[in-house]
Amino acid sequence: MQENCAVILAAGDGKRMKSDKPKVLCEVLFTPMLDWVVTACEKAGLCNLCVVTGNGAEQVEAFLDGDYATVRQEERRGTGHAVMMAESYLKGYSGKNVLILCGDAPFMDEETIREALKTHVEQDNAVTVVTACLPDPTGYGRILRDGDAVTGIVEQKDATEEQRAIREVNSGAYWFKVDDLLSVLHKLTCGNAQGEYYLTDTVSLLIGMGKRAGAYCSKDSDVVLGANDRRTLCKLNEIARDKILGLHMDNGVEFVTTDGILIAPGVKIGAGSTILPGTILRGYTEIGQNCVIGPNTLLEDTSVGDETILNAVQAYQSKIHAHVKIGPFTHIRPNSEIKSHVKIGDFVEVKNSVVGEGTAIAHLTYVGDSDVGRNVNFGCGTVTVNYDGVSKFRTVIGDDAFIGCNTNLVAPVKVGNGAYTAAGSTVTKDVPDGALAIARSRQENKEGFAERKLRNRKKRV
Ligand code: UD1
Ligand code: CA
Repeated sequence: MQENCAVILAAGDGKRMKSDKPKVLCEVLFTPMLDWVVTACEKAGLCNLCVVTGNGAEQVEAFLDGDYATVRQEERRGTGHAVMMAESYLKGYSGKNVLILCGDAPFMDEETIREALKTHVEQDNAVTVVTACLPDPTGYGRILRDGDAVTGIVEQKDATEEQRAIREVNSGAYWFKVDDLLSVLHKLTCGNAQGEYYLTDTVSLLIGMGKRAGAYCSKDSDVVLGANDRRTLCKLNEIARDKILGLHMDNGVEFVTTDGILIAPGVKIGAGSTILPGTILRGYTEIGQNCVIGPNTLLEDTSVGDETILNAVQAYQSKIHAHVKIGPFTHIRPNSEIKSHVKIGDFVEVKNSVVGEGTAIAHLTYVGDSDVGRNVNFGCGTVTVNYDGVSKFRTVIGDDAFIGCNTNLVAPVKVGNGAYTAAGSTVTKDVPDGALAIARSRQENKEGFAERKLRNRKKRV
């Protein structure tokens, strides 16, 4: 597999999507369709990829971030024309095989890629078309056969009534011997219903040269599915959602219901964990065993240790350790690390901070740009004052500190190990280990004040 290459056709526009993005960057479960295709190649062990870009080429190139080769197709003149753009790339793989894929068919999978190559090599084919049998083949190219052998592919628009009844369709994915593909690429013409250079015509051209064409019929007919508009894109999301939730169930993850649960591909969840309704897990998110996530929780690029409970939490680009309890209504912003046995409650926001083991932040608190030690207790309404309107500063809180209710910690500031702050204090100076900081005016009681006030008022009436 490693010595071969793949060319991904991704020049199509997103006109019917009514999107600023090129079609291949439209997302299925928060993941661009092109990303699904690239990932399937990588999983199959295929790492030499060339992507043909056209509409929104800059955006596709930015997405690929230099990881793979790209070539531009300035004008959309058909799938055969798109492959012509990769000619010089293909010349570098003479003697090898190339997989051609559509960048807008996200369900191509590693098994189909591998098995199709096996068939391709075993049968010594010049081209092996990946096919699927559909109950409704409308719109797809139909596979023409003479017994077992493939004799050609005819597009919907060029097909006769009889040919349109064929239910075996072209997925748009093929394994070619590179040299055989190169030998027919320039023989393609555009004398067809759409006036395009059809890649599918290479099949009959190769057969005409005495070469063999074969087919690999995929076990999963979803490999052919693509999206041209928002309605089909939404359907792909639903199909992907069912597939992914099913895989997690097979791995021992519990779903009481699947209502409102969206899990992106690549998210990992340990056995024995329960995912409750309204939960969205995406990006590089990894959850340990025996956790309870949700209801109404959104995690993005966040890792969660074993036995952790997150209820109505939003967390981004953060690390939450084991045996942590967070929520409801808690916001964990990027670059935070919540160590084990921490408890964080309602209306607490943590940003760019480390919260040490066993610390409790029960309610109504902002912890930003802070390094918090172990077993610290935050009173209700604590605020780390991290921003002076120009710069941000860090707050450091030692182990076993006790932050009184409604304390403002004006950064840069340090509260020592085991130190206390009095409720309502605005702390601007470091607090030594074990000390109590009182930074508020002392209470004064004016005896008889209310009675005097009342008397004065009565006099005026
Ligand atoms: C193609 C196949 C059809 C197959 C179907 C599967 C041809 C002639 N037909 O049809 O047999 O059943 O795919 O989905 O190949 N693209 C380019 N440049 C172009 C044209 C297309 O990069 O000039 C890309 C598109 O972005 C897309 C892929 O090639 O990713 C397929 O193109 P599309 O126009 O969707 O082909 P279909 O007409 O659907
Ligand atoms: Ca298509």
